Amino acid sequence: MLSVDALTFPAFFSTSTLLNTLALSILVFVLYTIKFYVSYFNRDNALPGPLPLPIVGNLLQYAMYGDMVVWAHTLRKKYGDMWELYMGSERHVWLSRADLVDKLFSSSTKSNYKHRTNWKRALAEIKMLDHGVVLNRDLDLWAFNRRMMRLVMTSKEFNNYVIKTVPKMINEMETYWTKLRCIEDARQNDLKDNTNKHATVSNDKIINISDWFHALTLDDILYLSTSRSGCALASLLLSHSPNSEIPYSPETMNYAKEFRDRWTTFMETLRTAIFMPDFIRLGTPNGLMKRRKYLKNFHCLTNNLSTIIRETRAEVENGVNDSKNNCDILRLLLVANTHRGPTVKRGSDEIDMPMSDDEVRGVLLETWVGAVETSASLMCYVVYLVCRNPEVKEKIREEVDPLFKDNPNGILQLDDVNKKLDYLEAVIKEASRLYPPSPINQRVATQDDEIGGYKWKAGTQFILDVYGIQNHRAHWSNPEEFKPERFLSKDIVPYSIQTFGGGLRLCPGKQYAMLFSKIVLASLYNRYDIELANENEKPKTAYKLTLYCDRLRVKLKKRSE
Ligand code: HEM
Ligand SMILES: *[C@@H]1O[C@H](CO)[C@@H](O)[C@H](O)[C@H]1NC(C)=O
Ligand SMILES: *[C@@H]1O[C@H](CO)[C@@H](O)[C@H](O)[C@H]1NC(C)=O
Ligand SMILES: *[C@@H]1O[C@H](CO)[C@@H](O)[C@H](O)[C@H]1NC(C)=O
Repeated sequence: MLSVDALTFPAFFSTSTLLNTLALSILVFVLYTIKFYVSYFNRDNALPGPLPLPIVGNLLQYAMYGDMVVWAHTLRKKYGDMWELYMGSERHVWLSRADLVDKLFSSSTKSNYKHRTNWKRALAEIKMLDHGVVLNRDLDLWAFNRRMMRLVMTSKEFNNYVIKTVPKMINEMETYWTKLRCIEDARQNDLKDNTNKHATVSNDKIINISDWFHALTLDDILYLSTSRSGCALASLLLSHSPNSEIPYSPETMNYAKEFRDRWTTFMETLRTAIFMPDFIRLGTPNGLMKRRKYLKNFHCLTNNLSTIIRETRAEVENGVNDSKNNCDILRLLLVANTHRGPTVKRGSDEIDMPMSDDEVRGVLLETWVGAVETSASLMCYVVYLVCRNPEVKEKIREEVDPLFKDNPNGILQLDDVNKKLDYLEAVIKEASRLYPPSPINQRVATQDDEIGGYKWKAGTQFILDVYGIQNHRAHWSNPEEFKPERFLSKDIVPYSIQTFGGGLRLCPGKQYAMLFSKIVLASLYNRYDIELANENEKPKTAYKLTLYCDRLRVKLKKRSE
């Protein structure tokens, strides 16, 4: 006869079975660990690097450091120019000297390094692996999208649109600065200083210029890519002074805010997809909750973008807002390969079809991903370094001031910006050497290959240690010094500067990013003295895929002469 006990406590809950299960698990784990380390210590091409743990690899050490760029700095010091890390079970080979990246930056169409990443579920879920340019693994589609993007962004129409648009946005920003009274008048201050030598600037005149540059850059790229307002500058004004007047209707503000929030969440999604291993993303309640939120957001963002594209396509097809007036990236992409615009060949076996809405969406989204944090942060770093090196500011002005003479609208000529601002360009490059907006880059080998004297299997992930290379003593004398003149000379070691990457996947936004940064910085240095709020405070940075400038506090003074 069956006892009641046996019914309520089935055999598999008994203490001894629990212990057995525990013992078994421990045994499995110990065996797994032994197997893991046996294969680790017998791996091909054992490079130096921190000891990985089973399953998580070096992720715990990374989590302890928090910031990959800072951690990589200490690792490179310890392990040299070629070393390795395990992100989960994935091995990453770090290359920290310029000559090691030679093959990765090959421009040959037969290059072995056309892929940036291996397939990853989190990236596939947000369609990054078969859309757009940045991580697209469909190489025909990637090449086509890239050509379209370059065609549009290097076109005369687009560049003239930039020249016209950016100064308007700078003016908008200055109007808001004036409203917030954060521009000090140097002349008045001189008078005041006569009576009170130690007059200090009151705190409300200090601004986080990182905030303003991010808003400016976002508004700018949204407008240049869709001819719609991002309202990020206006919203920043309202966050400091809620009752200020702004030139946008509440509907426009709400629509723009919804859009900006979706975009910010998308950037978070992208970061998570790259940095968070799937055993957390899919294996923990928190990970799963976030994933649900992110996918919903992605769906909405896609939807909203598709609406914009549909509306614009209808306008283009009805001849409304002819591309002579609005030469934004979206319109130019839509007319390319139609009778209205230039043509670009697709992959070998396809005819010149225009882009589908879905293809345009992928490219548009990545234009923002590529443009905002990079350009905004880089301009912050320029401002910081120029503050620390006042003689550089004077040289910038020698070049910039003549372009604004007898030019009350502050609209620069495209040719002048491209050809007459060499020193400013050198300043921007040198700032990007010390503070690379994209400090870590990647390539995957498609075939077995030899790099750094070792033979590597297809699929090996290589990390280009941009920060390390750009500050390597083998390539730069006194690398820690800010010397823009370096870039006026011709003898720069190949690949020792990688601000925009190189080879087949070189940044397609390079010319535009330079054009934009030069217009903004030229305008500001022509009109203002920018000073650090606190002489000893460095910009606060955080590695978030880009080297994000999280805070730079400055004071603005109208120039006295
Ligand atoms: C200061 C500003 C910028 C910096 C420092 C920067 C940096 C970079 C770097 C380092 C890469 C990787 C290149 C490589 O792997 O060789 C890249 C790729 C890319 N950037 Fe930029 N970028 C900037 C602005 C922009 C802008 C304004 C856009 C678009 C409008 C853009 C769009 C892209 C795209 C689409 C890629 C992927 C290219 C590919 O994989 O084929 N970037 N960028
Ligand atoms: C400064 O601006 C950046 C960019 O908008 C922002 O992320 C950061 O939170 C701001 N920091 C402070 C202290 O306001
Ligand atoms: C954006 O998409 C979401 C979800 O599809 C929708 O609810 C929302 O109304 C859209 N917003 C705009 C401004 O189109
Ligand atoms: C043309 O585009 C502008 C800006 O996008 C928009 O405000 C305007 O309504 C458009 N004109 C027509 C006729 O659709």
